[in-house]
Amino acid sequence: MQGHELLYLSRKDVSDVGLPMFEIIRALEIAFREKGEERTEMPPKPGIHPGGGDNFIHAMPAYIPALNSAGIKWVSGFTENFKRGLPYITGLLILNDTETGLPLAVMDCVWITGMRTGAATALSARYLARSESSSLGILGCGVQGRTNLEALNLLFPLKKVRAYDIDSGIARRFAEEVSERFRVDAVPVATPKDAVKGCDMVVTAGPILKKPHRTIEAGWLEEGAFASLVDFDSYWHPQALKESSKFCTDDSAQLLHYKEMGYFQDIPPIHADLGELVTGKRAGREKPEEKTMAANLGLAIDDMAVAPRIYKRALDLGIGTRLPL
Ligand SMILES: NC(=O)c1ccc[n+]([C@@H]2O[C@H](COP(=O)([O-])OP(=O)(O)OC[C@H]3O[C@@H](n4cnc5c(N)ncnc54)[C@H](O)[C@@H]3O)[C@@H](O)[C@H]2O)c1
Repeated sequence: MQGHELLYLSRKDVSDVGLPMFEIIRALEIAFREKGEERTEMPPKPGIHPGGGDNFIHAMPAYIPALNSAGIKWVSGFTENFKRGLPYITGLLILNDTETGLPLAVMDCVWITGMRTGAATALSARYLARSESSSLGILGCGVQGRTNLEALNLLFPLKKVRAYDIDSGIARRFAEEVSERFRVDAVPVATPKDAVKGCDMVVTAGPILKKPHRTIEAGWLEEGAFASLVDFDSYWHPQALKESSKFCTDDSAQLLHYKEMGYFQDIPPIHADLGELVTGKRAGREKPEEKTMAANLGLAIDDMAVAPRIYKRALDLGIGTRLPL
């Protein structure tokens, strides 16, 4: 189409834009308030599964009128990619003009996926964790381990971090890196139990498995603690899940859909979704001793809350490549 261009943003471009985590948390808060008030459009995500197993490519469209945002993320998760030296998560996002429908930008979605998932944990924690929470256990010290820590560190007075990874070298390097970057006292620990016991907040971010490995047992999560299940229920024994007095998610319908697909077979009843927590339609934490959990599966509104801000900043900073439509 003559005279019309879109902006292409590579993975490096998106990262160079440098949108701060606090802005991402704020954008998600607006998106979930709008969702809670039923003012967003987000059909269930269709997926295809090349190669079978746990591989997926999902289409994630959303429209958030209050943020003037419309578009779609087309995101893959391929479990064997690490053997080829490739990332597990890859994909693209298209941002559309809400007035004309024209594509405004095509951008790599890996950075957004990493950051918005950490932001969703922090937003859930704002309603479900004790505000004085100062210790954090991370199980799975990859991209999500980092972004979840970064986001929680903005909202809570974090002091101590215990890092567990199946690869002890990764946990050690992670602890060194985040101690310096976030000015916390982070130590690698030798067992999953060491990363759960004694922590105010826990994030599990290992692989997502249809058949959970159920490593975390009942009695490990402390009274008054909050857990974010970034890798679904893979890490948790059913008895440990049942100890949570408030089991929450980002979208109840999506969680129930995943349940039909074979995930989340042993979860407690859903207390609230994140839109209901943000709008106050359902209560967050009410007592200091409650054990609370958020299993946020990731929603298209997370991505579409962030994408327009990246686009705007990229235009302001002159980052990206203009392509003819
Ligand atoms: N819920 C969501 O919205 C959402 C969004 C993005 C990613 N995820 C999921 O989060 C998980 C982590 O993603 P990532 O991008 O950080 O991956 P990553 O590959 O960057 O990191 C994963 C880390 O987990 C470690 N690991 C593997 N098995 C483990 C185990 N049993 N215990 C502890 N550590 C283990 C690996 O060594 C690696 O360091 C994946 O399962 C991914 O699908 C969820």
